[in-house]
Amino acid sequence: MNSVKPVKKAVFPVAGLGTRFLPATKSVPKEMLTVLDKPVIQYAVDEAKKAGIEHFVFVTGRNKGVIEDHFDLAYELQDTLQKREKKEALAVLEHYQPAAGQTSFTRQQAPLGLGHAVWCARDIVGNEPFALLLPDMVMKDEKGCLSGMMDLYSQTGGNIIATEEVAWEETHKYGVIEKGSPAGDGFEITGMVEKPAPGTAPSNLFINGRYILQPEIFDILEDQKPGAGNEIQLTDAMLTLANQQSFYGHVFTGQTFDCGSKAGFIEANIAFALDDAEIAEQIREMLNTM
Ligand code: UTP
Repeated sequence: MNSVKPVKKAVFPVAGLGTRFLPATKSVPKEMLTVLDKPVIQYAVDEAKKAGIEHFVFVTGRNKGVIEDHFDLAYELQDTLQKREKKEALAVLEHYQPAAGQTSFTRQQAPLGLGHAVWCARDIVGNEPFALLLPDMVMKDEKGCLSGMMDLYSQTGGNIIATEEVAWEETHKYGVIEKGSPAGDGFEITGMVEKPAPGTAPSNLFINGRYILQPEIFDILEDQKPGAGNEIQLTDAMLTLANQQSFYGHVFTGQTFDCGSKAGFIEANIAFALDDAEIAEQIREMLNTM
């Protein structure tokens, strides 16, 4: 299918309270906690950029202003580095600097759920398909999860959900999809279940936090009633959209770290450190002596 509308914008919901990381997240957004030398949010933005995304939409909340600062020009810092001729440090800043006008920020005034956070981006996204990346899920992979999804989207159009294999006995912890016929490099999704009871999961493919969605999701979210946890759930809205439009699954084969949990966050730090030529040996020795 060549006539699919291109995906140019990505939405990053970053308005959650991050209660699992209190007290750290009392004044620092969890998306700004660092995995090695980059804040968690930067990994998702880098992945989106690699996949060809041109505009980055952040749904923030109170106490999240530092995320906006992170993607702004740090004029005083750059000026000081220039005067001191710190060329390497300057190059790092320039490398991660989005171009003027490439970012938008909107606020979710109250954390009413992921579905509500996505709905808050409706005016900025407009009537076009968009990528949605949950920044807590940090991916480690040469190609990038969203790039693989874009390949599938260019073949099928519609809505794309990235999935990943998990042990069958773990499926009850996740949103799990039901796999239909093959389609392009992926497959049709014929159902989705949030945290299926043990032994009832329709597959061992869980939804890993990356989506390409059509703009009709916003109309559904507008009337979406609170679901599990009394929050407006994205999955509930996607289930309604699946009655009107096709959903396709992409299987991501790289590594994913759930940086919204302490264990996943530590694991991500270790994995990225072991990949850093400068400190890998030291970290390996450290781990061996623990
Ligand atoms: P989580 O379920 O991890 O919730 O949100 P949380 O509040 O961020 O963290 P905990 O559970 O209290 O520790 C998943 C994603 O959805 C966003 C979060 O920022 C995160 O990226 N989110 C969640 C919102 O933007 N708004 C919400 O109302 C809820």
